Amino acid sequence: MITRDDVLALDAADPLAHFRDRFHIPDARVIYLDGNSLGMPPKRTLERLTEVYQEDWATGLIRSWDHWVDLPQRVGDALAPLIGAHPGEVVLHDNTTLNVYQLVHAAIGMRPDRTVIAISEDDFPTDRYVVDGIADALGYSVQRGFGRLDDVAVVVRSVIDYRTAELVDVAAETARAHADGALVVWDLSHAAGAIDIDLHACGAQLAIGCSYKFLNGGPGAPAWSYVASELHDVIRQPIWGWFATKDQFAMGPVFEPRPDIARLLLGTPSILALTAAEVGISLSAEAGMAAIHAKGSALTALAIDLADQLGMTTPTPRDPARRGNHVAIEHPYAKAVVQALHERDILFDFREPNIIRAGCSPLTTRFIDVYDGLQAIAAWTA
Ligand SMILES: Cc1ncc(COP(=O)(O)O)c(C=O)c1O
Repeated sequence: MITRDDVLALDAADPLAHFRDRFHIPDARVIYLDGNSLGMPPKRTLERLTEVYQEDWATGLIRSWDHWVDLPQRVGDALAPLIGAHPGEVVLHDNTTLNVYQLVHAAIGMRPDRTVIAISEDDFPTDRYVVDGIADALGYSVQRGFGRLDDVAVVVRSVIDYRTAELVDVAAETARAHADGALVVWDLSHAAGAIDIDLHACGAQLAIGCSYKFLNGGPGAPAWSYVASELHDVIRQPIWGWFATKDQFAMGPVFEPRPDIARLLLGTPSILALTAAEVGISLSAEAGMAAIHAKGSALTALAIDLADQLGMTTPTPRDPARRGNHVAIEHPYAKAVVQALHERDILFDFREPNIIRAGCSPLTTRFIDVYDGLQAIAAWTA
């Protein structure tokens, strides 16, 4: 039987507990278990946004583009070690949906002899819709699931299931796809800043993700793309914008893709959004992904143990090596529970058809939040 005092002792022993002070907490009574949808605001973000506003924009005016122009790549370099990428392999821009679109196009361009794209029927909607849209436009077919891949050009796949938090064996599944001649675009939206993943060690060559969840980059923070350096020369992407062309300010007559990761850029990047993303990423870098992952596993283990104790069912894997940083609780009135608890400042989220997601964001979530949050679900039910 886990008691409230047991859980308070976990917080007291937590080596990352002090990171919570680096975030703006609006009201100490709020129980926030939705950092897997939108991370909390770092205090430094407001300071940096003010600095960029006053010093760069208001004072520097147009001159500030001299150091703004490569911010998408610089923030990419800051993110790279958190996901096992090398400098020059990650760039931040636009949103995840657009990044999926670009990398799927880039991948199918490298497999011109094949016309099938594989994706799970349970994957996040935007990934499925983008894949369906590309297939529709090009006359390709979409395979639901990953059984046979020997005629598949590209696999599009989330590393962590947005509903159940199940974590795929990225190394094994990348190797299987490559052995069958398929490329893989991995979606790390629920993995970046949550789990300690090494894309190079997994053999992954293409990946995308967002920075507003576990990376605490802020609402609408730019997404990121990773392309292993051996593919930089060969990938082509469908949106030819001036930020992706060689010698951008020559204003030349034709588009010539840059030789590096910046060939994925489009037009003028959002400097304020990149500034906020940079701060969030820097906090994860400071804490270190091994420590973040370890705390995430401990938080989700507590949530699963409490769910068992309170008679709740969860489809989230019990093996910590197979789960990300949220726990799904099945509940017949999941939607009503989530809405009622929101009114009491206890913030979970709901996912169709019957899932309450308890997001455990290691830099801000306390063990006591998990305890009190799950007790609140149980009390509503009783
Ligand atoms: C796995 C996954 N992919 C993509 C997205 C969202 O894409 P976008 O950033 O374009 O809204 C989400 C959002 O929750 C997600 O969970």
